[in-house]
Amino acid sequence: MKGIGGFYAENASCPHGLGGRLVLSLMSMLHRPFWRWALRSLPAASSILDIGGGSGGTLRILGSRFPQASLTLIDPSPVSISAAGRNRRIRAVQGRCEALPFDDESFDLIILLDSVYYIDITIAFPEVLRVLKPGGMVVVGFEATDPDAVPRWAADNGVVVRRPEDIAKEMEGAGIDVHLVERGQRAWARIVGVRRMC
Ligand SMILES: C[S@@+](CC[C@H](N)C(=O)[O-])C[C@H]1O[C@@H](n2cnc3c(N)ncnc32)[C@H](O)[C@@H]1O
Repeated sequence: MKGIGGFYAENASCPHGLGGRLVLSLMSMLHRPFWRWALRSLPAASSILDIGGGSGGTLRILGSRFPQASLTLIDPSPVSISAAGRNRRIRAVQGRCEALPFDDESFDLIILLDSVYYIDITIAFPEVLRVLKPGGMVVVGFEATDPDAVPRWAADNGVVVRRPEDIAKEMEGAGIDVHLVERGQRAWARIVGVRRMC
């Protein structure tokens, strides 16, 4: 039997159907304090990409902070795309982080909040680097719980929890300079990286 944990994990990894809409709404409420923590003190940005952005709540926060910025969201789930696309300011694109359908050097801020568990980071970070402008910033935020204690219902739905330091090393390997690795309340973690100017 799938259980509540399995239902949640399945729809968090790729929201689908009515359950997906429900889980997206839940995440929009429950993740808000984490979003605010992970997105605090960022420099002004003019072109922002949210990878695995779900219903677009994070982009709404950044959009009100930076009223002139263009807002793009990418997510493989059609349910996420239709929820995020309801905001006329957000360009919602269906796709995956491992093959970003954007030109080189398109964005000056890229965020991945609570989506890194589902992503093949060895393929994804070179893609993130490619679409990031020189000097642009990447913010990765997630719950850094014990990688060896991922519940079965989460692991069965593709959740891979990595240590922040291991993700930072992968970012550095891709050519993203890591400026900050920090932890907040609960198991919150945030990694901030910048693409070298040359
Ligand atoms: C837990 S939700 C997080 C949504 C939102 N960022 C938030 O903080 O509430 C994870 C999202 O990542 C998306 N996702 C899963 N695999 C992905 C991939 N390979 N590339 C981009 N997004 C992915 C899922 O469809 C889902 O919308």
